[in-house]
Amino acid sequence: KRLVVLVSGSGTNLQALLDAIEAQGAEAYGAEIVAVGADRPGIAGLERAERAGLPTFVCRVQDHASRDEWDRALAEATAAYEPDLVVSAGFMKIVGKEFLARFGGRFVNTHPALLPSFPGAHGVRDALAYGAKVTGCTVHFVDDGVDTGPIIAQGVVEVRDEDDESALHERIKEVERTLLVEVVGRLARDGFTIEGRKVVIP
Ligand code: GRF
Repeated sequence: KRLVVLVSGSGTNLQALLDAIEAQGAEAYGAEIVAVGADRPGIAGLERAERAGLPTFVCRVQDHASRDEWDRALAEATAAYEPDLVVSAGFMKIVGKEFLARFGGRFVNTHPALLPSFPGAHGVRDALAYGAKVTGCTVHFVDDGVDTGPIIAQGVVEVRDEDDESALHERIKEVERTLLVEVVGRLARDGFTIEGRKVVIP
């Protein structure tokens, strides 16, 4: 299966996918990353892609006349690589109806909280501020809401009294990277159906 991965930052989730495919071989893993896209240039995620010899593309909102034009440009740039599955690994933009029209149902996101708790751009900070004793990460299909699509898998991470946001996020990311690699591999190898809010992987 062909994967396009979208990033906005350090790209450690992308790196985990790259390392797993390198270690297992694309055949055994069931997928290869064919391109990496970002909403901004000059991020470590793009450097990781370039180091792996992958094509990259950047779609910046400010380069387009409207949000819808950006969304269309992102969809077209992604479609050029003919992905079977698109993975948002720390991609920090909400895609629009054009992108979802093309990739809805095969667009996976990873979120650093136990959805439906703490959706949005500050899931780690919000769980910490709320005083949650456990939090974690969620891999889900993207729908037209914010972090509201059908859940595929979740991992639990304890919150420690001494945690600040970055310490907690690092601990979440350790679980998240493993979960994302496992889920993407299963989706790619075994296929899946989405039945309402249930994701069925045979
Ligand atoms: C991940 O925790 C992701 O869930 C969140 O941002 C982080 C991205 O980390 N949206 P990285 O860019 O994969 O290192």
